[in-house]
Amino acid sequence: MDHERIKAIYHQLYDKMDGRALSLKGREDQELKSKSYVYGEVVPDSFYEMIQDAQPQPGQIFYDLGSGTGKAVVLAHLFFDFSQCIGIELVDTLYNGSIDVLKQFDNEIKPTIAKEVENKQIKLIHGSFLDIDLRNADFVFMNSTCFQDDLMQLLEVKLEELRPHATVISLSKMLKSPAFQQYKHKLYEFSWGQATAFYHRKRLWKVYF
Ligand SMILES: C[S@@+](CC[C@H](N)C(=O)[O-])C[C@H]1O[C@@H](n2cnc3c(N)ncnc32)[C@H](O)[C@@H]1O
Repeated sequence: MDHERIKAIYHQLYDKMDGRALSLKGREDQELKSKSYVYGEVVPDSFYEMIQDAQPQPGQIFYDLGSGTGKAVVLAHLFFDFSQCIGIELVDTLYNGSIDVLKQFDNEIKPTIAKEVENKQIKLIHGSFLDIDLRNADFVFMNSTCFQDDLMQLLEVKLEELRPHATVISLSKMLKSPAFQQYKHKLYEFSWGQATAFYHRKRLWKVYF
């Protein structure tokens, strides 16, 4: 689909939504004190570039771990040929906001681009990504700049369940698990400024050094 059309859809869905405010309210309501919940978002052009740089293949399944208001999920669905784009978010207000966006997308946008999104699905899951089965994932994105050490340790163990050759892009933090090979890193723009994306591929076998 034409990139200008995608960006127009993105603005239609998100210009009135303040993800940061939703996150602050949700964290207060749920008493989530960890800095792992600090909020920030992808922006369209550099998100496209970052995912395109990993050369995703048609039909693959994309996950965003900590999907916020769903921007990365919606953009992945529109820019690429993933068969499923799945977001997982723990904070109630953000998850509810992403569901509102998805309803608006289904009602207002989808009928106008039915052919372009044929055979492609968006799915949003409410909960912790540590508790969700990720074994069908081919492509995992995590906006992990603020994920704290305790969460990263649990997440690294969780990601070992991914299938061989799955791609994982993490922000600001490189995976240390020997189950992954890091093969590239590059700076991209995000809502708060620049961050380094680390590209990893799941090894066929876990290699111990
Ligand atoms: C920096 S934001 C990224 C939002 C979105 N992925 C983006 O890039 O636009 C990270 C998100 O991870 C969520 N998060 C942190 N720990 C989580 C967990 N264990 N399970 C699900 N979501 C989590 C936070 O609430 C926050 O919305």
